[in-house]
Amino acid sequence: MMDLLIDVIMKATQPMRSKVGLSIIISAMALLSLTSWSLKSAEVDPNQLKFPQQYDSWQATVEQSDREDMLAQYPASIILWAGSSFAKEYHSPRGHQFAVADVTHTLRTGVAIAEGDKGLSASCWTCKTPDAPRLMKEMGIEGYSGANFVDLGREIKSVVYCSDCHVDGSAKLALPRPHAQDAMAKIKLPFDQQDSAMQGAQVCGQCHVTYYFQPENNNKVNIPWIFGNSADDIEKYYDTRRFYEWIHPISKTPILKARHPEFEHWSRSTHAKKGVTCITCHMPQATDDKGAKFTDHKVAGALDNFDRTCASCHSSKAILVKKLDQAKADINLKARHVEGLLVKAHYEAKAAWDAGATWPQMNDAIMGIRHAQWRWDFAMASHGMYAHNPKEGIALLNKATEQITYAREALARILNQFSVTKVEYPDYSSKEKAHAAIGFVEADAIKAKQAFIKQEVDKYWQPVAKTGYEVSK
Ligand code: HEC
Ligand code: HEC
Ligand code: HEC
Ligand code: HEC
Repeated sequence: MMDLLIDVIMKATQPMRSKVGLSIIISAMALLSLTSWSLKSAEVDPNQLKFPQQYDSWQATVEQSDREDMLAQYPASIILWAGSSFAKEYHSPRGHQFAVADVTHTLRTGVAIAEGDKGLSASCWTCKTPDAPRLMKEMGIEGYSGANFVDLGREIKSVVYCSDCHVDGSAKLALPRPHAQDAMAKIKLPFDQQDSAMQGAQVCGQCHVTYYFQPENNNKVNIPWIFGNSADDIEKYYDTRRFYEWIHPISKTPILKARHPEFEHWSRSTHAKKGVTCITCHMPQATDDKGAKFTDHKVAGALDNFDRTCASCHSSKAILVKKLDQAKADINLKARHVEGLLVKAHYEAKAAWDAGATWPQMNDAIMGIRHAQWRWDFAMASHGMYAHNPKEGIALLNKATEQITYAREALARILNQFSVTKVEYPDYSSKEKAHAAIGFVEADAIKAKQAFIKQEVDKYWQPVAKTGYEVSK
């Protein structure tokens, strides 16, 4: 707008090229900066005026400030993710209002970038903010993803917002992320041909899906669903492309990383088949004081709203809670067992390499570790798996157990050939011990992060980058 006005003024005054012309420009500029200042000070979001119930409930996700330290809950994951930033910090998700601040403050992302270092891709912003699709438009997708996470930090003005799920200013659902449009087409569910229930699930599926950054395309976000969206299909895609996220420093395994595949798990669930979507359970209908119905935009835990979410089909909350607790316990037990086996396998592989084993000898075992850890991760990275698709969770972990057992048998034979009789395993009984085992000094990382926050974020980034981290004075 500002650019356009200046353009018009410049054109209008072009023939003059005189002091008068210049003074017109200067006074016009002064007027412009005054109007933009007064707009800012009275800033009212038009969406708030038009849709107050949706807006207020959207804002209320700031009340969901609790989260859990997942590395402390299962410290074995630190060993399994050694060599990647996931081993540094990993929390369970919380309310949408924290999306930008949490990714800003985690040890996984930005510190000041060393000269000549490329740093982390801006693609990390993709699922936190409507500024991501905006910047993709402005910079081109590869221009955006090729930029650095820190360099775009000052541009990020909002958390997950109306325009992430709607045509802005209306109730019509939308999918503004190009990679999500592509992905839904890959699984033959193109967005614009779905009913409103499936469109609702797909707006969540823009972000609550697994993805990777395409190294050959400037780290562009891609959803790997060409063969389908199950763990097997995605693994086939990665294996065919010989893709890996990083080489595990202990076992030399080319690792695959799953990221919150909520959409994938849900899409195969009993609920999905019955048309029960993310929206049914996480955004139930509500009634305002005048009796008008609206969709509750305080996207939160589903059970807290049992009467509005589950009760239309399930009569007893107690029975449901018992079922969910049981599913959670079963999955946790199996997951802890697989983690133990995976840790052992990484160290047995190390012992084999140290003894002089070669790739032809190790290939099967290393592929076994890769595939087992992928399935374990596909189950673990999905928040609420025990509620979304407990059967798939159990099946993934059973298959992972089978694969890692096979890998360890192969490793035992190799170790035997090299007469290795003893393997040193690490102590991962706590987060601190597991960090020590992989040589990560958390205190140093926190110090570097705090310096970055003070020098960059506190000074130059927008208020959304600080939600929940405001220092009390
Ligand atoms: C995470 C996705 C998401 C975000 C963010 C979001 N909405 Fe919605 N919104 C939905 C879904 C899903 C529906 C239900 C659509 C349906 O069932 O047809 C909905 C419904 C609506 C409706 C229709 C009336 C109603 O209440 O059902 C309005 C109006 C609306 N949203 C406005 C907003 C506004 C304003 C914001 C920003 C403050 C916003 N939405 C943010 C997903 C979202
Ligand atoms: C633009 C990306 C994006 C979209 C779209 C999105 N989410 Fe999220 N969601 C996130 C992020 C990021 C977090 C984690 C925020 C944090 O922990 O700081 C999150 C957190 C959550 C949580 C955890 C809340 C809590 O209090 O623990 C739930 C539940 C959730 N989302 C469900 C949904 C549903 C349902 C939809 C669709 C209506 C949806 N999300 C759409 C990015 C998104
Ligand atoms: C049948 C109801 C149901 C459906 C459908 C459903 N969820 Fe959930 N979801 C739950 C329950 C139950 C939990 C466990 C936590 C709670 O709500 O008590 C949960 C947990 C989550 C969490 C983790 C919250 C946290 O803080 O750990 C996220 C994120 C989430 N769901 C997103 C989604 C998305 C995205 C979809 C659709 C693709 C979806 N859910 C579909 C019921 C459902
Ligand atoms: C529109 C109907 C409907 C709603 C709403 C609904 N469910 Fe279900 N749910 C079903 C059906 C149908 C089944 C499959 C039959 C069965 O196992 O009882 C099911 C099965 C389940 C199961 C058994 C395990 C599984 O996945 O098959 C759990 C647990 C469950 N639902 C939890 C929830 C929770 C929690 C909510 C609310 C957040 C909820 N459901 C909302 C229809 C619904």
